[in-house]
Amino acid sequence: MDAPLESQLQDREEDDPTRPKPSPPCRLVIFGGGGDLTRRLLIPAIYNLVCAGLLDDDFGIVAVDWAELTTEALRDQLEETMREFVAQRKANAVTLQEEAWDWLDRRVSYLRGSFDDAETYKQLDVLCGPVNCVYYLAVASRFFGTIVSQLDAAGLTREDGQFRRVVVEKPFGSDLASARALNVKLRASLAESQIYRIDHYLGKETVQNILALRFSNGFFEPLWNRQNIDHVQITAAETVGVERRGRFYEGTGALRDMVPNHIMQLLAMVAMEAPTSFDADAVRDEKSKVMVATHQLDWRDTVRGQYTPGTIAGRPMVGYREEPDVSPDSGTETFAALKLNIDNWRWAGVPFYLRTGKRLTQRKTEIAVHFKQAPYALFRDTPVDKLTPNIMVLQIQPSEGVTMQFSAKMPGPVVKLGGVRMKFDYADWFQEGPSTGYETLIYDCLIGDATLFQRADNVEAGWNVVQPALDAWADGMGDLRFYDAGRAGPDDADALLTRDGRHWLRLTS
Ligand code: BG6
Repeated sequence: MDAPLESQLQDREEDDPTRPKPSPPCRLVIFGGGGDLTRRLLIPAIYNLVCAGLLDDDFGIVAVDWAELTTEALRDQLEETMREFVAQRKANAVTLQEEAWDWLDRRVSYLRGSFDDAETYKQLDVLCGPVNCVYYLAVASRFFGTIVSQLDAAGLTREDGQFRRVVVEKPFGSDLASARALNVKLRASLAESQIYRIDHYLGKETVQNILALRFSNGFFEPLWNRQNIDHVQITAAETVGVERRGRFYEGTGALRDMVPNHIMQLLAMVAMEAPTSFDADAVRDEKSKVMVATHQLDWRDTVRGQYTPGTIAGRPMVGYREEPDVSPDSGTETFAALKLNIDNWRWAGVPFYLRTGKRLTQRKTEIAVHFKQAPYALFRDTPVDKLTPNIMVLQIQPSEGVTMQFSAKMPGPVVKLGGVRMKFDYADWFQEGPSTGYETLIYDCLIGDATLFQRADNVEAGWNVVQPALDAWADGMGDLRFYDAGRAGPDDADALLTRDGRHWLRLTS
């Protein structure tokens, strides 16, 4: 008799040659290892990799920071955060898996030192020895250049049979010129293949699913072009404010913070041509092409907004200018809406409308592909604006899935159409592994797969698109508009679409 289906599937999974293998032996050196990013995201992600059996026995973490810490004290701090982290995610894991945590805990060590002191790097060399190393720069961007030149001067970027890679966190520059300068600085010490520029959006399962959806199914791609698509809306709405990052955000704003990086990555995934393979460069070449084909942003196609006091989910919220470390007459935008056009055969004439903001009605990241109206001769007596538009929504977060909206005949003797929805929910189909989004990125870096990391030209192409609007805003063009916390952004954001006869999909609480 055949084995039950479940065990057949399990056997198949164990023999599966595509099943991920443990990463090679490696030291993960985290600059800023005593900081927030390490505690909140990197360590939980690494712990999840341990639980999944994806790290080699000869794996170790060296946390480098200037804080007065010891290895013991750091391990205690990390354990405490991990217990909180697991407790918050009860749906996935009820308690910390002690065995996995012990495994990781033993492999963490702390090196106290200043990032600009050659001595730190000498000690690091002694501590790591001649092994594969990934240097993770979980530090403020002003240290990126210094750390990389110091690593280089100490001979720690040389690859003599072992790999030496550098992971660079966001923000990668604050405009096109600074992004270019940073690339030049990094390339003075490293080959492009050693640089892993992180955009954490690319670690999200649903973002990766965009390519799978488009290119492994027969019925989306034939429709995916200007003949059938009217326009595309990309929304990255947050309910959080600037939290404790007022100082950083004051000099950054919503456009720099979200658009040239995260949102341009989403746009590239939706708009790129099929790569010839899933090799890192084949994918990144196609992304680059579509980003280069994207028109530079005209400030007349932008709206910038800032939140004032309001309520979200019944809770009162202060306005942006009352947030800690924010100037009381700040002109920084916490909301941006824009329209972009892509100058290529597939997309000419199809606008891409993007919006992102803090303290909005709802937390939601999604891409809505609006298809053209059907030739409605059959329903001649139906007002066009009453026909349900065909929209395919790729939901990135917080719910993850795909929804299709279309018309169907309502039951009854008279032909009447009603709007219906068909919904695929990730959670219904796949067992969701515990994930922070950083697991894939860290694992890929350890195994040397750069597909989900940004190449120098990708980063520069993103900045190049937004640069004219940044310049125009700095010159006083485009007034700052205000919106109450808890709304969908300023009214002018609606006007950006209504002037083209279109509407945003509603953000609702
Ligand atoms: C970060 C921005 O890069 O992305 C933050 O600096 C923003 O301001 C965050 O809140 C959004 O990420 P996510 O994964 O919550 O959508």
